[in-house]
Amino acid sequence: MTAGIGDIKMIEQEARSVRDDYVLGHSTEEYERLRRQGQTFEPVTRRLFHAIGLRPGWTCLDLGCGPGETMRLIGEIVGPSGEVTGLDRDATAGREAVERLQAAGTSRYRFIEANVEGPDAIGGGLFDLTFARMVLQFSRDPVGVLRKIYSWTKPGGYVAVQDLYVSTINLYPKLEACSELVGVIRETCERFGQDTEFAFKLPVYFVEAGIGAPDGTDVHLPMTPFEPFITHHQALCRSLLPRAIALGITTEARMHSVFRDTEQAAVDGQQHSALWSAMIGVWKRKPLR
Ligand SMILES: C[S@@+](CC[C@H](N)C(=O)[O-])C[C@H]1O[C@@H](n2cnc3c(N)ncnc32)[C@H](O)[C@@H]1O
Repeated sequence: MTAGIGDIKMIEQEARSVRDDYVLGHSTEEYERLRRQGQTFEPVTRRLFHAIGLRPGWTCLDLGCGPGETMRLIGEIVGPSGEVTGLDRDATAGREAVERLQAAGTSRYRFIEANVEGPDAIGGGLFDLTFARMVLQFSRDPVGVLRKIYSWTKPGGYVAVQDLYVSTINLYPKLEACSELVGVIRETCERFGQDTEFAFKLPVYFVEAGIGAPDGTDVHLPMTPFEPFITHHQALCRSLLPRAIALGITTEARMHSVFRDTEQAAVDGQQHSALWSAMIGVWKRKPLR
């Protein structure tokens, strides 16, 4: 599947409607991809929540909640006596998530439509946990956002962030089409101002934001055969492809052949060793006074 001129116009409209230049866009397919990805990363995020002692009754903020997979996980842990607030500038994703989660009834859920780089206050009380997964890497001012979410955290509460460190991606034996696909992902993200090494710098950003050196870090680095690796990265590439084409990084025809070759390689079933991006988690407890 490739993006044509019609898709690019749609993307431009979509970006205007949420007033952003978010590289992955806001299509229904992207929401679906985020839900699937959320399920893949659920054990890693659950491990981080376990490390900080997330428990029933906590009030939590999920920054950049998207279609709500992390809200669901937090809600299942904090239960009906807790509360989960999702914040995102994409109101369609956030509202749909809250509707679905409220119907499930596992916790109390609410949604705030906001740009994380916007308001200094969001109303309501402070949180036991402020959490952001795969969000700060898109921010032009991650230290400013960290400073802000720290101010929204209760004394004795936690700030926790998980993001991807992309530079670990590798494949053996090499496959030209796969290198090209990963190259398109990286270049498009970088041209949108995203730092693909962002997660590795988090402990320094915590200190710069006045939060202090992290209490803990967690690194998850999957190594799998080719098929799950390429399925994940093809879906990611499809989400940002209209922007890659609009920026002149690749063409529709080129990507048609890249997708065909990577799909063929997956079917051929040759043994490969695929190293993914690392998911890096960092957290800090705010002192009681
Ligand atoms: C890659 S998705 C991650 C979604 C979710 N946190 C997860 O882990 O499944 C990034 C989300 O951050 C949101 N986002 C990106 N920049 C934002 C900003 N400046 N303000 C608010 N939300 C933002 C996007 O709309 C999107 O829903």
